[in-house]
Amino acid sequence: MDLRWETLLTETRATHARVPALQEFCALPEPVVEQPVTPHHIPAADLMIHDPNLHSNAFADFRDALINAAPLAQWRETYKGTGASADFLNRFACYEIIGIDAPFGATDIRAFVVYQPAGFHYPWHHHPAEEIYMVVAGEAEFHLEGENPQTLRPGDTAFHPSNAPHALITRDHPVMAYVLWRGDLNTKPVFTYPEDLS
Ligand SMILES: [Fe+2]
Repeated sequence: MDLRWETLLTETRATHARVPALQEFCALPEPVVEQPVTPHHIPAADLMIHDPNLHSNAFADFRDALINAAPLAQWRETYKGTGASADFLNRFACYEIIGIDAPFGATDIRAFVVYQPAGFHYPWHHHPAEEIYMVVAGEAEFHLEGENPQTLRPGDTAFHPSNAPHALITRDHPVMAYVLWRGDLNTKPVFTYPEDLS
């Protein structure tokens, strides 16, 4: 297996070891089964790879491992054909690290990296899987319906209950986040208010 994937797995495990909220959410598979993935590039991946403002002190090694593995990744197109704007599709980036379709196999969790550049609005969406976000680099405003928004920075986490609408806004900074799912892993997210997308 490509050393860039091996390094990313090492850094992912190291991050779990340091962040109790991640450990409480789920354990990582041990041992982990390596699976081939066919690389699939999207334009937004280049924004993440070349973003000079993904600042992170505490999680710089994890950030770098996520960027270094990016050319090998099967970048997802979760929202293609859903009514998402071209601007959204061109600037929102996500690939799976551990899970059903990932280089490291798991059937009970999915682990992703999600990136959005500065000045980006990820509209209200929901999914049956329970979810935790941990900011790796940069910062973003996390919105959970019915709660006050929170600005999260590297090491901060946000939990999203099953089917609870949530949204993400970046202003002056981009954000790179590590995202875990448990529960229903096969139902994709949908926009909560699709009528508001245009
Ligand atoms: Fe989500």
